[in-house]
Order: sequence, then C-alpha cells, then structure tokens
Amino acid sequence: MKLLVTGGAGFIGSNFIRYMIKAHPGDTIINFDALTYAGNPENLEDVQNNPHYHFVHGDICNEELLYFVVDQFAVDTIVNFAAASHVDRSIYEPGLFIKTNVLGTQTLLEVAKNKHIKKYLQISTDEVYGSLGSAGYFTEATPLAPNSPYAASKASADMIVRSYFETYGLDINITRCANNYGPWHFPEKLIPLIIINALENKELPVYGDGKNIRDWLYVDDHCAAIDLVLHQGKPGEVFNIGNHHEMRNIDLVTLILDKLNKPHRLINYVSDRPGHDRRYAIDASKIKAELGWQPQYRFETGINETIQWYLTHKKWWQKIRSGAYKSYYKHQYGSAIE
Ligand code: NAD
Ligand code: DAU
Repeated sequence: MKLLVTGGAGFIGSNFIRYMIKAHPGDTIINFDALTYAGNPENLEDVQNNPHYHFVHGDICNEELLYFVVDQFAVDTIVNFAAASHVDRSIYEPGLFIKTNVLGTQTLLEVAKNKHIKKYLQISTDEVYGSLGSAGYFTEATPLAPNSPYAASKASADMIVRSYFETYGLDINITRCANNYGPWHFPEKLIPLIIINALENKELPVYGDGKNIRDWLYVDDHCAAIDLVLHQGKPGEVFNIGNHHEMRNIDLVTLILDKLNKPHRLINYVSDRPGHDRRYAIDASKIKAELGWQPQYRFETGINETIQWYLTHKKWWQKIRSGAYKSYYKHQYGSAIE
C-alpha cells in the first residue's frame, strides 16, 4: 500500500503511523502535515529514518501540492486525520475549523477522485452525533446533531465524503471514534492537561459541575480499528469505534490525582464550556461483528501506561508548555486559575 496520512504529526496520526510501520513494514507511508501548533515532528523522531516513511510539509487545502505528492509517491490510499481538533478553540475561531475540516476535506476528496485513489478513509468523531441523555448509545444510524463549531465542521465533512461515494463512486469509509487517550496527546486536552498540571502542582480546571461523561479509548485500539477498516471496510460504510468506558470528568480527574498521590484540593471548578455536550457513549457492535475488531486495552492498563509516558517524557511536554501554548492557556482559563 502507498498510504498518504494527513495530519500524521498530531496525536492520533503519529500513533497510527508508528502502528502501521510495525504492522505493515513493506508499505510506503507519506505523512502530509501543515505542522500547526498541534503538529510536532518530534512525535515521530523514532521513525524518521525508516526508508518507507516520508514527511511532506503541506496544507490539505493546497490542491496543487496534493496532486504533486500523490503522483510523486504513486499514492493509492488516503487516510485523513488532518483537522483543527480542539472544541474550545473552535468556539473562538470557528472559521479556521470550517476552512481546515470542511474545505480541506473537500480538496482531498477532489484529488482522490481525480487520481482514482483506491480507498479514502475519513477520520471522524462521535461528536457529530451531538449529546446523549443518561441512557442509550450512538449507533451509525443515530442522526447527526453537532453542537460545537468543531463538531459541525466534522459532520459537514462527513456529508461531503458521503457525497463523493454516492455521486462519483469513490471508495470511501468514515470512522467515528470516542475520546482517545495515550502518548503524544497534546496537553490542551483533558487527560494530558490534568496529568501535567498535577505533576506541576497547578490547579486542575474542571468545566461546569464536572459530571459530563466521555467514553475513553486507548489510542492503539483506535489505530487497530482504522487498519481493519482500511483493508476490509465495505465501500461507503460508516463505523463507530469505542469500548464502553464511560466516565464522569470529575471521576477521571480524581483517579489521576490519586494515581499521582496529589491532593484533591488542586481541583478547580471553572466556567462551563458553551454548548458543552453532556454525554458520549459509543455502540461499536458493527465494527466488531463485521470486521472482527476487538480492543486490547483495559482502561486501567491504558491510563497507567499513559501516566507513565508523561512521567518519562517531561522534555516533550515542557517544551510545548513553554511556547505558544502559554498564550492559549491564558486566553482559555484567564484568571480563573494560576
Ligand atoms: P491533533 O490536533 O493532535 O492533530 C491534528 C494534526 O493535523 C496536527 O498534526 C496538525 O498539524 C495537522 N493539521 C491541522 N491542520 C492541517 C492542515 N490544514 N493541513 C495539514 N495538516 C493539518 O488531532 P488528533 O487528536 O490527533 O485528531 C486527529 C483526527 O482524529 C481529527 O480529525 C479528529 O477530528 C479525529 N478524532 C480525534 C479524537 C480524539 O479523541 N483526539 C477522537 C475521534 C476523532
Ligand atoms: O469524542 C471525540 C472528541 O474528543 C474528538 O473529536 C476531539 O477532537 C477531542 O478533542 C475530544 O473532544 P472533547 O471535547 O471530548 O475532549 P477534551 O479533552 O477537550 O475534553 C474532555 C472533557 O473534559 C469535556 O467534557 C470537557 C472537559 N474539560 C476539558 C478541558 C480541556 C474540562 O473539564 N476541563 C478542561 O480544561
């Protein structure tokens, strides 16, 4: 396979590239990434000398460059991870999310169609389904009802991907995964933010009443599911991915504090996220039944490994936290926390 991975320098993309190099050492992988604040070449330092791995610095809105890269490497498969991915940022700059997530996706699809790409896989999210009450699960048949500009941009992209299947016969799949966690997770997202703030004895910002629920999946399990969909996904199909690990945010924060032997007084309830979805929970029975996907990580193992990773990779996150991230942190949390 000659695989173009967009957004491969981010959290899930970098874990996926590492996973694929191990699982399919003969495949060629081209990582196409704009290196925004969330893209970090250090995430893939250990594979950069692999002769089957190539990096191209580029924006998925740049059609000309995409054509060049697809020709140059004879790309036959595309997986699109590239996105503006943080819900809080989408509230402040929705336009960027529309540009990257909607227009960027359509640009890639156009290239995929014209270059007769064999498989195009769109990495989407459970957030396109909106919010659940206290019961029930998102299935692939749940109507799309996105609530944040981020979720709306991802849902829009999904609709455009679907249209390229229906109209042009492009072989596409869409995956909608629950919240991922694991190594190389950018420290603006809840789990890495809490681990690092706790390690530095800083306050831990918990939005609203802390009772919003997220369904957590270890990133390697997501990567394995994507690999299966790429190889076996029937054209046009959507697959939900998740492992029934729902947790209230406050319970997750408390668990991390306890594992690090840090005091609960670090918890600081701050203003809620506008439009904050209350509960996500994925029904992944379709991918299990049709493609035989089975998650390998229990949450207890995954979170212990994740905490350990942040303990042993201080240089990685200290560098990020000392740079541009600082001004975002101040903007997001203001004087609510020190
Ligand atoms: P991330 O923010 O860590 O990484 C995004 C990557 O995309 C970065 O490397 C960034 O440089 C790159 N990028 C951004 N704009 C680009 C552009 N215009 N052109 C090329 N590259 C660009 O995100 P993530 O958490 O790894 O998420 C990856 C994908 O998975 C996203 O599409 C996201 O919607 C989806 N997703 C994430 C989760 C999660 O829990 N993190 C869950 C489900 C789905
Ligand atoms: O569900 C999949 C989605 O998961 C992905 O599509 C997104 O790209 C990814 O960012 C993630 O979105 P969330 O908004 O669920 O993740 P985040 O880590 O930002 O927040 C998790 C929960 O924690 C959410 O209920 C908001 C809350 N939160 C978050 C932050 C950053 C806090 O209470 N305090 C915080 O400081």
